[in-house]
Amino acid sequence: MQVFTTKAAVRDSVRAWRAEGQSVALVPTMGYLHRGHMALVERAKAQADRVVTSIFVNPLQFGPGEDLATYPRDADRDLAMLGEAGVDGVFLPSVEEVYPPGAQTIVETTELAKMLIGKLRPGHFRGVTTVVTKLFNIVQPDVAVFGEKDYQQLCIIRQMVRDLDVPVRIEGVATVREEDGLALSSRNVRLTPEDRAASVILSQSLFAAEEMAKTGITASRLRAWVAANIGANPRADLQSADIRDAETLASISGRLQRPAVILLAVRFGKVLLIDQRVVTP
Ligand code: PAF
Repeated sequence: MQVFTTKAAVRDSVRAWRAEGQSVALVPTMGYLHRGHMALVERAKAQADRVVTSIFVNPLQFGPGEDLATYPRDADRDLAMLGEAGVDGVFLPSVEEVYPPGAQTIVETTELAKMLIGKLRPGHFRGVTTVVTKLFNIVQPDVAVFGEKDYQQLCIIRQMVRDLDVPVRIEGVATVREEDGLALSSRNVRLTPEDRAASVILSQSLFAAEEMAKTGITASRLRAWVAANIGANPRADLQSADIRDAETLASISGRLQRPAVILLAVRFGKVLLIDQRVVTP
């Protein structure tokens, strides 16, 4: 496995693979890898001849007072996991390599970035779409793989690729969960034992809501039930609970007619957890 720290180095290798007629998949990550990331790598391996994973904690997607400084990092462990998984290359750049001084250009989806998590974390998705565009331009993959756990992020990246005619196919991979239902996230390690135990309320609420969605319930009643169920847990500080069209993220009212997605953001102490479930009426 090659480790690239510069854009030039990753481009050289990708060019050489392409010259041999090989296709390339990219798995963008912020590191501190877990089984959820490895599921993305496995999907990437099934989709292309070569797999590049990027590890970059992108400062542009963290707001003032957010957890950029404390975001968990362990590059050695990540590299060992990726080597074991048979990844061909890892792009592990410095902040200066990705954002040389003087950069002025940002990429933003004007509507989707402002709703839901975008309201809680203003500027977050602008940081995501800007770095993902840069990674696409640096690696020039045929396919890029993202987790469905970050459902709004996945919708935004699909929209950006459509809007800007980016020649890359986007693959979404189902959320990987702990045995008790908690969605895997690099941030889970920062939960206290008490909050870790309480955090199962997210997946429990989503699984219960999935069953209720089959009963002809309205979107607003289902949302209210989810919010009340989570709100009843004294450790869970509900930041948002929404039900949106699963494809467009548009608001829905009345009885569910089409697949919808329930999107949750819940704070446990200083840790913001998100989770989602697509429900079908
Ligand atoms: O989902 C993530 O880990 C990040 O938002 C991403 C897509 C790697 C961009 O920094």
